[in-house]
Amino acid sequence: MIAKAVGIAQGVRPRVLDATAGLGKDAFVLASLGCEMSLIERQPLIGALLEDGLARAAEDFDVAPIVARMKLLKGNSIDVMRNWEGEPPQVIYLDPMFPHREKTALVKKEMRLFRPLVGDDPDAPALLEAALALASHRVVVKRPRKAPCIDGPKPSHALDGKSSRYDIYPKKALKP
Ligand SMILES: C[S@@+](CC[C@H](N)C(=O)[O-])C[C@H]1O[C@@H](n2cnc3c(N)ncnc32)[C@H](O)[C@@H]1O
Repeated sequence: MIAKAVGIAQGVRPRVLDATAGLGKDAFVLASLGCEMSLIERQPLIGALLEDGLARAAEDFDVAPIVARMKLLKGNSIDVMRNWEGEPPQVIYLDPMFPHREKTALVKKEMRLFRPLVGDDPDAPALLEAALALASHRVVVKRPRKAPCIDGPKPSHALDGKSSRYDIYPKKALKP
């Protein structure tokens, strides 16, 4: 579902900026499918865990080729995107925190780490606005399935998964 959301197709592997990297799980999935990824995480402790994870993965024979496609940038994505220099990312992927309750043990465990450090990312509308201004081809926002869209421009359509939804904000077709 995430592959379809960012526009991966035969002969299409977009350059993606994951502007809410967290621990890099979604970015890893996209890198493993062949996308060149830039990642930004603003929470210093989570950013440090991600940096350490990427460094250790780079030493691992099996995953080194995948993490070679993952470049970690520092700072707040809103500022980084507003001051972007050079070629813009084709796709910008956003997965900001959303105040919701999930029952699975996995989510609970992750949320025990994230929630107290990160809060609820109330500036998500500014993040979306900056992403829409920068991405050349599309912006994708991951939301809990029943959650409202981020305030601001509305997506053209959405892909529904079991627990998540991907809101798609297209700008230009991705071509092989
Ligand atoms: C739900 S988590 C993302 C999980 C990630 N998709 C994964 O697969 O691991 C949201 C993360 O986005 C980060 N974040 C939110 N707004 C941000 C911003 N403006 N700049 C950088 N990071 C941001 C938060 O600190 C948090 O770690």
